[in-house]
Amino acid sequence: MQVTVLGATGRTGFHVVRLLAARGHAVKAGLRSRKRAELLRGIENVKPVLADVTADPADLVEVLKDSDVVITTIGAPDPEPESVNLVDRDGAITAIRAAEEAGVARFVQLSAQFADSPDQGNRLVRSILLAKQISDSVLQKSALTWTIVRPGTLSDGPATGRVKAAGHLEPGRITRQDVAAVLVGTLAEPLTENRGFDVVSGEFPVAPALAALD
Ligand SMILES: NC(=O)c1ccc[n+]([C@@H]2O[C@H](COP(=O)([O-])OP(=O)(O)OC[C@H]3O[C@@H](n4cnc5c(N)ncnc54)[C@H](OP(=O)(O)O)[C@@H]3O)[C@@H](O)[C@H]2O)c1
Repeated sequence: MQVTVLGATGRTGFHVVRLLAARGHAVKAGLRSRKRAELLRGIENVKPVLADVTADPADLVEVLKDSDVVITTIGAPDPEPESVNLVDRDGAITAIRAAEEAGVARFVQLSAQFADSPDQGNRLVRSILLAKQISDSVLQKSALTWTIVRPGTLSDGPATGRVKAAGHLEPGRITRQDVAAVLVGTLAEPLTENRGFDVVSGEFPVAPALAALD
């Protein structure tokens, strides 16, 4: 399967790339800037490509043209609403539209817990949740087969391989490596198609946790 990862040099995106490549997928690693391509050097099956979601959308369409799947892990580099709206809202929507135009079949979006009820948190949290709510809703109404993964608070700990996934969960935490395993795991679980769900750290291996989604 040809998979393009947007935000491939991010703290979650890097692990998505690594896991996809280890599973034998052909991976295009979407970079905001070529300066960070070094991070991906030496991972087999991975081709770095320039994919800035705030740049010319036609370039993004070209990048996505031969992809079966897009997994996006992009996030604004600055938490201020102006940057968040540019990347998490408008940039994410640009990526969705580009994927439609490029004939991509499946689109997996990393969102955030409570993006589907964003009237909470401080000014910055609200703006992030609202931006994600909007791009999530555009994805749900798109022509793509979609999956929206809404993790709890992210941490940089090691992979535990154990998660809890459901339509809605109590607030929780999860490591970026476990989120990456969930994002990649969605590709093997048809129950995740056209569905959004919360995920936090838990007791179940990823595949059975996704297979038990109600
Ligand atoms: N922090 C939390 O607790 C939490 C909880 C739930 C969900 N989330 C969400 O999870 C996602 C991933 O989080 P993370 O911590 O892995 O983020 P991260 O390390 O900041 O990675 C974000 C990635 O997005 C890329 N990016 C930024 N602007 C871009 C643009 N214009 N075009 C293309 N790529 C762009 C960055 O590129 P560079 O590598 O070049 O900087 C980076 O690779 C984010 O959307 C975040 O909001 C976070």
